[in-house]
Amino acid sequence: MAASGSGNQSGKAFYVTTPIYYVNDAPHLGHAYTTVAGDVLTRWHRQRGERVWFLTGTDEHGQKVLRTAEAKGVSPQEWCDKLVEEAWKPLWRHLEIANDDFIRTTEKRHTDRVREFVQDLYDKGEIYQGGYEGPYCVGCEEYKLPGELIAGEGEHAGEQLCPIHKRPVEILKEENYFFKLSEYGDRLLAHYEANPDFIQPESARNEVVNFVRQGLQDLSISRSTFDWGVPVPWDGRHVIYVWVDALLNYATAVGYNQNQDTFEGSFPADVHLIGKDILRFHAVIWPALLMANGLRLPGRIVANGWLLVGGEKMSKSNLTGISPRDITSHFGVDAFRWYLLRAIAYGQDGSFSWEDLAARYTSELANDYGNLASRVAAMVGKYFDGVLPEATADGEAERAVHDSLAKTVAEADRKIGDDVEFQAGIQTIFDFVKQVNGYISEQEPWKVAKDDSPEGRARLATILYTAAESLRAVAVLLNPFMPESSQRLWESLGAEPALGALAGQRVQDAGEWGRLPAGSTITKGAVLFPRLEDKPGA
Ligand code: MSP
Repeated sequence: MAASGSGNQSGKAFYVTTPIYYVNDAPHLGHAYTTVAGDVLTRWHRQRGERVWFLTGTDEHGQKVLRTAEAKGVSPQEWCDKLVEEAWKPLWRHLEIANDDFIRTTEKRHTDRVREFVQDLYDKGEIYQGGYEGPYCVGCEEYKLPGELIAGEGEHAGEQLCPIHKRPVEILKEENYFFKLSEYGDRLLAHYEANPDFIQPESARNEVVNFVRQGLQDLSISRSTFDWGVPVPWDGRHVIYVWVDALLNYATAVGYNQNQDTFEGSFPADVHLIGKDILRFHAVIWPALLMANGLRLPGRIVANGWLLVGGEKMSKSNLTGISPRDITSHFGVDAFRWYLLRAIAYGQDGSFSWEDLAARYTSELANDYGNLASRVAAMVGKYFDGVLPEATADGEAERAVHDSLAKTVAEADRKIGDDVEFQAGIQTIFDFVKQVNGYISEQEPWKVAKDDSPEGRARLATILYTAAESLRAVAVLLNPFMPESSQRLWESLGAEPALGALAGQRVQDAGEWGRLPAGSTITKGAVLFPRLEDKPGA
């Protein structure tokens, strides 16, 4: 699949977004999952040398946030300010999320533009006044169709429940403003047809196509029973529906109606990363709103599956929420970032399990990868006083490693950078790590070291150079996933300053054999991934 991204140094940035999260509570593992994915994707594209824009933020209006604040006895603005500053932003810093901007929907730069956008739709005749009555789920902030509801049991016997939140829906009856969504079905279907990659994965695409084929209803885009939102410009008794408000962040944050140059330099997003729970909003409502306003549609909408805990979608409301810091304090930030994308195929549901994380940490990070790095550094120290020797005796085995590295880089670049298939990309990189381990086991440098002849020394030098140079490439490839340990590996290889900073390395160059100069000083730094029983607090 070709990259739909158009990012390059001079033209439009490769623009990636996460959902903006509700601030009714502190972030949990599910939120971290999508955000880490966005961070890895954008770090990868930056390493390609592209200009990149990575946006995340918070969704602060609507009934869900309002009710939480009321229950805590504070104003919704105070509640949001506190949570954003004390919980959300610090967590993203802790997880090394390198977002370029953080948008809050209560900011004036957003609310002013939302009013303009909606006014524009009104002026174009896309919005009309009407009435609606139906079941509403505050958890989803969405009217449900009666057919979607499930019958309650136990304490909820006799009630109708939201299929996602398993909580009773409320019957809402309101005079609202409506967007003529029903008129966009054919154009949306034509767009899905002409752009097969628009919705990823395939299962998500099929779901959306079937949904739209059944016919769309007009969308209520205002609410009048509470006032925590952006006022409708022509009728101050209403606030704009929280989902319309929220979706527009992707435009307002990059200068919609404010700074034309900035806007054209980023918009539309190349990739909207979302969870599959909010697929219809992104793949149906959002493109229809853009069409109605004559704006370009995003490149791709990529939905991740649900992180499950005990078979349930992890969330705060069903008490399965896990705090990311519980995990990072035990395994470290790098292992946390890596695990989420390593263990679960992006797009599929997957179970989070502490045991699985511990097992993979030990076998893949500590044993396969960490040990390789420390063994190589130790041998260069022991046999060459820590100075990387030159490879002068390349043979069949070395050429196999060179070829394999070139293929690994191309494959990882396609999987991660183009296809957003992180698991397959990581797999490719770790297959290469395994291959280098196998190469060392077969070449037995510790035996070759006993041969003092010039041929023996040349052979030993070649083996160790091959291993160290392979690690140089691995540090570049794993840098988007595990920035901290990759940097430490980079420094231990003496690559900086000999080769320049890791941050400046390009994916394309990772596979070019021989970039690590002979003569570099290799040091045995701290172990990259300490055994779990050796970690403080383990
Ligand atoms: N505010 C809306 C999004 C507006 S975007 C214009 C919202 N917020 S949310 O706080 O509920 O976050 C939803 C997103 O968090 C999901 O779409 C998904 O990306 C992520 N996840 C939350 N729980 C998750 C799991 N258990 N598993 C995977 N992702 C999860 O919806």
